[in-house]
Formats: sequence, structure tokens, C-alpha cells
Amino acid sequence: MKNINQLLKIAIACGGLKHSYGSVIESPGCELLKSVVNSIDFNLKKQQEISLPLPENDGKIKTMNAMGFMTPEYDMITSKFIDFAATSQHPVLDGGAAYGVATIPALKKGATVIANDIDQRHLYLISKNKMLTVDDKERLYLNKEALPNLNLPANFLGAVLLCRVMHFFTPENVTQMFKNVQSWLVPGGRFYLVVMSPYHYSLKGFAKTYEHRLANGDKWPGIITTMTKDYIPKYKGKIPDFLHVMDASVLSKIAADNGFLIKHLELFGHNRTSKENGRGYIGAVLVKKDGEENECN
Ligand SMILES: C[S@@+](CC[C@H](N)C(=O)[O-])C[C@H]1O[C@@H](n2cnc3c(N)ncnc32)[C@H](O)[C@@H]1O
Repeated sequence: MKNINQLLKIAIACGGLKHSYGSVIESPGCELLKSVVNSIDFNLKKQQEISLPLPENDGKIKTMNAMGFMTPEYDMITSKFIDFAATSQHPVLDGGAAYGVATIPALKKGATVIANDIDQRHLYLISKNKMLTVDDKERLYLNKEALPNLNLPANFLGAVLLCRVMHFFTPENVTQMFKNVQSWLVPGGRFYLVVMSPYHYSLKGFAKTYEHRLANGDKWPGIITTMTKDYIPKYKGKIPDFLHVMDASVLSKIAADNGFLIKHLELFGHNRTSKENGRGYIGAVLVKKDGEENECN
């Protein structure tokens, strides 16, 4: 049985993950994982002039690739992920990490974190975060694959967080993400999810459309393709026009279809502005089956 550092060093040596120091560590056993880890081209040196965007009036920090915002404080699902990650004997994955709202505190609590984002400028800023000590950085790994296509070994991760990222996924990618996370997690590993719901305050009038589609048997009732035209014109250029929201019924069905037990599922709000109605997001903690069945009953 290999320990957490041995596994990660093998993955790095195979080119799949880049250590936050940018070094590649040679490791025996590379052949073992070569077939399952994608190689990436991640040159941190090119990113040295990048700095964190100034916060908006409400404190949110826009992403550099117009994929929404990172909120400065984390929600209760992310909080659960951070606490669980700190106790995990395995690496955890923060998918769509942005500037590290979850990655940084998880590292501070002792977790080994693979911070993933399609924009490597975000990852660069995580690696340069002044709160991180040398010891924290030893446990930080950076990856810029577009999820769900991160090629990790089976039974490798203790937990996965996907906070406010999956609503950018097509139905095919949502399904693939669940299948991949099911494979990557160790038995009993946990999948922490936060997805925009049809009840988000910005989606005025969409909840009715959603419920109508759901009642008519639409498997994916939450697809919107005109976000900035019909819902948030002021965010044109800051968010994509495609959005894929979900409620508890849709999320719990995908979870069950893909071998997860539901430990926690609720609509909640970030309570950041007076516009929040407490139902803008669906949050879930899912457990890979055959690990913790009894605990979830
Ligand atoms: C709205 S921000 C959320 C950031 C953070 N997780 C949070 O909760 O504040 C979405 C982030 O996901 C990243 N992202 C979007 N699609 C992705 C994908 N397919 N794979 C990896 N990252 C992705 C974006 O680059 C962006 O940084």
C-alpha cells in the first residue's frame, strides 16, 4: 500500500500533476500510472505578472476567464469539505478552485490538495498566496485539466469538491463527472457539491419553466442558453451564456444512478446580499457506496 506522498509523486512524475513549486519529482513506479494520468503543459514561470483582480462592490472576485466569481468566504458545504479533507489519509481534489477559497483553508488544516482549474492564472495565484507556508506548499498540487477529464487512478482521492462549477457543465459532462468521481474516490470518500438552483434570485421567472419541464419528464430541466441576454445583462463578459441549474430531485437521481449515498442535501443561500432568498444553491454531500452505508442510513 503506497502512502499519499508516494502516490502523488508517481502522478507528478508521470506528468499528470504539477507540484506547486513547479518541480518534477522522479519516482519509481511511473510506468504503473503512465497509462492513466494525462500529461499537462503548465509553465508557472510565464505567469509571474498576474495579480488578483480587485473585488467587486459586494466583495466577489471575478474570475479571469469570465466563468463567474469567487466569493471571498466559503459556504457550509465547502466548510464540511475542508474539515473532512483535513482528516483524510488521501489527497483531495478542489475542482474549479479559482483563487483558492477552499484550497487555502484546506491546506492550512493539513490536507493534501490537488487544486484544479481550467485557468492556470488562477492556479498560479493560489501557489503564490502569502498565507501558505513552505509546509502547506509541499501538500499543494496544481492541475489545469478541464473537468471531467482529469485522468486520475481509481481509489485515489479522499474527497472531491465542486463548488459552483458544475452549473457550467453540459448534461454529458455532469454524467461523466459523477462516473469519474465515483472511480477516483476511495470507498467511503465524499463528493461535495454546490450547484446553482432554479430558485437563484438572478433567474427571475425561470423556476416555473424548470418545474414545468420537470413535470413533463425532462431529465435535464435546468438548461439555460441565454443567461446574459435574458437574466443578468450586467454580467455580459463575466459569465457564460450557458447555465445548467439543478434542484434536489435532479441531483439526487444522478447521485443514486452513479452509486452514491446522500449524506446531506439542501437548498441554501450564501446570504451575502439582501437579494438572496436562501434557496439559490443546492448543496450536497455524497458518499461513495460500499464505504459508509451504515453511517448514512
Ligand atoms: C464560479 S467560479 C467558482 C470558484 C470557487 N469554486 C468558488 O466556489 O468560489 C468557477 C471556477 O471554475 C472553473 N471552471 C469552469 N469550468 C471548469 C472545468 N470544466 N474544469 C475545471 N475548472 C473549471 C473556472 O475557471 C472558475 O475558476
